[in-house]
Order: sequence, then structure tokens, then C-alpha cells
Amino acid sequence: MKTEIHAETGNEVNPVNNENILFDYQTIQKLDKQFGSSFYLLNVDKLRDNYQKIEEAFKSKYESFIIGYSYKTNYLPYLCKQLSELGAYAEVVSRLEYDLAIKLGENPKRIIFNGPLKSEEDINLALKNESIINIDSIYEIEFVKEYALNNPNQLIKVGLRLNFDISQDGKSPLQEGYDVSRFGICIESGNFQYVINEFKAIENIKLAGLHGHFSTRNREVESYRRITQKLCDIAKEYITDSIDYIDIGGGIYGELPKSFNKTVPTFDDYAEAICQIMNKEFESFEKKPTLILEPGMAMVANTFHFISKVIETKTIRGKYFVLVEGSVHNIKPTMHKHNLPMRIIRQKKYNKSKQVFNIVGYTCMEKDYLAHEITADLPHKNDYIIFENVGAYTIVFNPPFIKERPCIVAADKNEIFVVRKKETIEQFFNEEIYCF
Ligand SMILES: Cc1ncc(COP(=O)(O)O)c(C=O)c1O
Repeated sequence: MKTEIHAETGNEVNPVNNENILFDYQTIQKLDKQFGSSFYLLNVDKLRDNYQKIEEAFKSKYESFIIGYSYKTNYLPYLCKQLSELGAYAEVVSRLEYDLAIKLGENPKRIIFNGPLKSEEDINLALKNESIINIDSIYEIEFVKEYALNNPNQLIKVGLRLNFDISQDGKSPLQEGYDVSRFGICIESGNFQYVINEFKAIENIKLAGLHGHFSTRNREVESYRRITQKLCDIAKEYITDSIDYIDIGGGIYGELPKSFNKTVPTFDDYAEAICQIMNKEFESFEKKPTLILEPGMAMVANTFHFISKVIETKTIRGKYFVLVEGSVHNIKPTMHKHNLPMRIIRQKKYNKSKQVFNIVGYTCMEKDYLAHEITADLPHKNDYIIFENVGAYTIVFNPPFIKERPCIVAADKNEIFVVRKKETIEQFFNEEIYCF
């Protein structure tokens, strides 16, 4: 249900072109009264903009291209629905996410079911629904075989998530410095060959796709070259007659806020490298395989702000602490120490007082810092602090710790409306699941 609430934002509302949307004190104060002293703001125009830019970058270079939006990055139902309406498939990694996609009215054939944990029931459902399914581990093979034998008249199409070495100059680019990824079916160990043999033995199973997602530290274009090349080579060597799609996973950079001062590859840079390989490798194919990209961060990170009210500014032995109605959990669930881009919306003009201060949250944890050692004019009680770029892996990781989850409001053209209400104590301690 969409509750429409119009905020008087005047003529300035244009979230994509004018980042100052809503950001005058009176407007935020009004929203505070309606939605609470801390809330997320989803910029729907920015979301559309991201989708269209990614699609254009790839489609202009390789026609048969699909975006599978990575639900886990932010499965706010309203957001998933918007992306679906734009044309995105749903990339899900659990039955919970699968069922959400169905609940949102997604065509099951437009769901990509990934992830390391799928029950026999999950696999049966996905196969019955003809969803795209990428097998991650050997145990899933038995479920697929069993289903195929029980349904001899159905052609069962499955994909495999592959695991191979993507090191450059002997160095692994994987996140956290891992040498080896724990996901997918290993080519080097012989597991891949085993799976090929198992599936070949059953007539109504078709190996339709290859998937290769690797979460890398620097999201470099070179990693995507390697992934794409390897998937193409394997497809041509083993499943040249049955290949329908090459899925290169997610992990690309999106547009970063200017204040990050960091130059990263553009959507065009990624598309150029990936599509050039796809075009070359499948040049002679009558029907080229579809290219699937599964962006998460790149699609949603810059579409969310978190707005929190300043409760107090205090000094403790010469250090300044600004307490806000919010927590590090709301904006950085991994508790990393980099400061996000932020701005302070002040109630009035105070005498300038540049200081170094920390912004701290409502939990009782010492390490609940939303920002460290900011140098700026000190914020005062009733000012607001807006943290930017908080759309990815925030609301999905937000633990129910100490306080109810805040409201999420969306801004779309001239409208502001609630897409997740502020949680109540009844919802937090749901009587259907807790015993009192
Ligand atoms: C299979 C798969 N696809 C897509 C993604 C999205 O990655 P990102 O949010 O970095 O784009 C992930 C993230 O871990 C993933 O595991």
C-alpha cells in the first residue's frame, strides 16, 4: 500500500539534477514531524537513472543483455518493484528473496536463483517455474537429477556457477585478500567435469548457462575481462550447442559521489571490455548467448540518504561528540571507519566554530561512530546530518538492535511518500513469533 504524503518542497524538487532536494531546514523538519527524527530517503529518479545508464552502456555494445538486480543489496519491496518495471530480472540468493520476487508479481521466468544454499524443495520449485537457476555446489546436482528423472517430459535448463583462478601477476584480487573463492564449482579439481558427465547422462537436462561472480577488492575492469574470457572459453569447449547465457555476476562500481575523490571505471569501461570479448567469441554463432550482469551496489548505493537529527553536542576532555538519532548500524553495518559523504543542515546561522568532532549513535556500544574526526563548524542540537550513499547493504543488514527500524520515504518527481513505515513495538516484538 502506497501512502502518498505531499511535502511542500516548492519548485526545487528534481532529485537527479538538483541534489539539494528537500535539503532546506524547514522541509526536513516537516518530514521529521511526519516520519520521525531519523529516516532514509530513496531517490527514485536516481534509481531510474542508474538503471538506464547501465542498460545503455551494455545494450549499445551487445544486444542480448539482461540486468539481474541483486536483491540482497537492498530488497526494499518498492525499490525491487521499480527495477522490475524498468525491465530488471530479480537475482535472488535465498528462498526468502525468491518468494519476495513472486510476491511482487515477478514472472518466475525472470528470476535468477543463485546462492550456495538451496533445498531440494527450492530447486524443485525453481525448475517447475522455469526460473533461471545457477547451481553453486555438487549437492544440488542430485536434486536436479531427481527432478529431471521424475519429469521426463520437461526440458530442464540449468546453469553452473564456476570457480576458477582470476589472479593477476600471481596476486588474488578477491575481497579480504582471500586466495580462493569459496563459491561455485571448481574447474581445476575435476568437479566441473564430473557435473558435465552427470548431466550429459540424463537426456532432458540441458546445461544452458555459465555464471562467474567474484567479489573483488578494486572492482577492476581487468577482472571482468578474465571472468568473461574464461566463461566464453569454457562455454565453447564444453557446451557450445546448448549455451543460452553467460552471467558475469555483479561487483562493478557505480557512480561515486564527487567527495570520494576517486576515479573508478565507468559503466562504459566495463561494458567495452566485456562486450568486446562476447562479440569476438560468439561472432560465428547464429544466436549469440545472452549476457547477464547482476549489479547491486552500482544500482542502489547512491540512491539512499540517511537523515538524522542532532540530539546534543558535548565535550569530554577536550573532544567533541555529536549525538544523533541514528546508529552506525543504519549507515555502515560493517562498521568500517571511512567517513561517508555527509552534510549538515543547520537550524540557524551560529557563530563560526570550526572544530574536530565525532558523530556518535544511540546504542550503548563504544564503537557506535557514524563518523570520525570531522573538521567543520560544530553541529548544534536540532540540526540534521545527512549521510549519503547508503543504499547498498544497509537496510538489509540493519540488525534489530535496541531500537525499532526507521521509516523509509521515497522522493519521486514532486512526491514524497512512505515506502516502509517506522516500526512499532508491536511489530518489533511480534506476538505471532514471540512468547510473552
Ligand atoms: C552472485 C552475486 N551476484 C551479484 C552480487 C552483487 O554484487 P555488488 O553489490 O558488489 O554489485 C553479489 C554480491 O555478493 C553476488 O554474490
